[in-house]
Amino acid sequence: VSASDDRARTARTTRRGFLSAAAGVAGAVGVAAEASARTAPGALDGATGKDRVRLAFRGRFQNGVACPVQAHTYFAAFDLISEARADVAALMAVWTAAAERLTAGLPLDHGFVSPKASEPDSGEAAELPANRLTVTFGFGPTLFIKDEHDRYGLAARRPEAFIDLPKFVGDQLVPQRTGGDLCVQAQSDDPQAAFHAVRQLARLAEGVAVIRWVQSGFTPSYDAKITPRNLMGFKDGTLNLAAGDSKAMDRFVWVGEEGGPWMRNGTYMVVRPIRIALEHWDRMKLAFQEQTIGRHKASGAPIGAKDEFAPLDLEAKDKDGNGLIAENAHVRRAAPETNDGAQILRRSYTYDNGVSYVAERWPPWRQGMEFDAGLLFICFQRDPRTGFVKLFERMSKFDMMNQFVTHTGGGLFAIPGGAAPGRYIGQALLEA
Ligand code: HEM
Repeated sequence: VSASDDRARTARTTRRGFLSAAAGVAGAVGVAAEASARTAPGALDGATGKDRVRLAFRGRFQNGVACPVQAHTYFAAFDLISEARADVAALMAVWTAAAERLTAGLPLDHGFVSPKASEPDSGEAAELPANRLTVTFGFGPTLFIKDEHDRYGLAARRPEAFIDLPKFVGDQLVPQRTGGDLCVQAQSDDPQAAFHAVRQLARLAEGVAVIRWVQSGFTPSYDAKITPRNLMGFKDGTLNLAAGDSKAMDRFVWVGEEGGPWMRNGTYMVVRPIRIALEHWDRMKLAFQEQTIGRHKASGAPIGAKDEFAPLDLEAKDKDGNGLIAENAHVRRAAPETNDGAQILRRSYTYDNGVSYVAERWPPWRQGMEFDAGLLFICFQRDPRTGFVKLFERMSKFDMMNQFVTHTGGGLFAIPGGAAPGRYIGQALLEA
């Protein structure tokens, strides 16, 4: 039996698995019924305790963009290994059906056949509530064109805004942690619920898509009124776009008619693992750290102010007439006022990949194990050209923070709109 025979057989088995699960899509109403039969009625939107809050999967928008940030994320990018558009469509159908069950806190049942797995669900989430699990799906630019090849006949449906991200100053992108044809973002207040979701989706993809890279992340969970701190020790998210402000969301985050029918109510996600040289940062005096960010560390207030939410006054001067917030402070470089009004919705997490050996080629020639940790930067925007690219083009050249951070991978993904009952994510793009 040749390798290609083997692949063909796997693809066929997979297809069969897809078909039975696609039937499940049509019977999606059953998920809600099954979920509430197992748990308290009304749990879908806000029960606590044993049910620990299930968030609705279906809707006008995909979830996992605008809902309050969960404590854990698990991001995975996939490469497609099938050249048939029907396989991609079948995969999205089965992924949609699976995500609906998983976000309802239900294990995958016999409707979901992974080609090589002995059981429909790997089991580690058996008694685990969903804990606000969301699963968000995206498409990479290489779904439309890869090595100048339009594998799926989709190039004509690629929106103008869905560019290839340019190379930025200082980028150190590792190919094995960059790009992907498809992506999945699973977020939950329980790390195992998030991991379990991605694991089941990866199993269902066998023969059609393989994992290219993953990154997990966490953020402190406490009172929602407290802005979480990142590993630099600063509050991160003080001046974020308000996800509850639907006017601002329509203007800056959700795609309108301009993206074609399949991107209506969608958005574009930029995800970038950014390593922070924590040991280097920790040697900097507090005043310098604060200058770098442009805010006070303890309070989060703009330099010179007391309150975290005091207006960010970029014109503020000290008694000698010098600007309080440095020209190259991060908050100045990131502010809409210095970027023609550009705004993005940030949803970043801290990441921790253990330690790795670092040897410097310049004084003081430090050598040794250092934390491989930083920020899994995630942002959403209606148009990456006027969002992330607009902000980061100048930031990557002038931001004082650049001495401490390195972008090591990532990508831009189109996040289609949500799926109505009986439909799957991306259907308007993938159906013939
Ligand atoms: C390791 C990397 C980064 C760290 C540690 C970091 C940290 C921070 C901190 C502490 C603030 C101030 C608090 C706040 O308003 O949220 C902030 C603000 C902000 N950052 Fe970053 N950031 C990083 C990367 C980026 C990148 C790559 C972008 C976008 C290209 C970005 C965009 C913004 C924006 C838009 C603001 C709010 C500015 C405003 O509206 O005034 N950040 N960041």
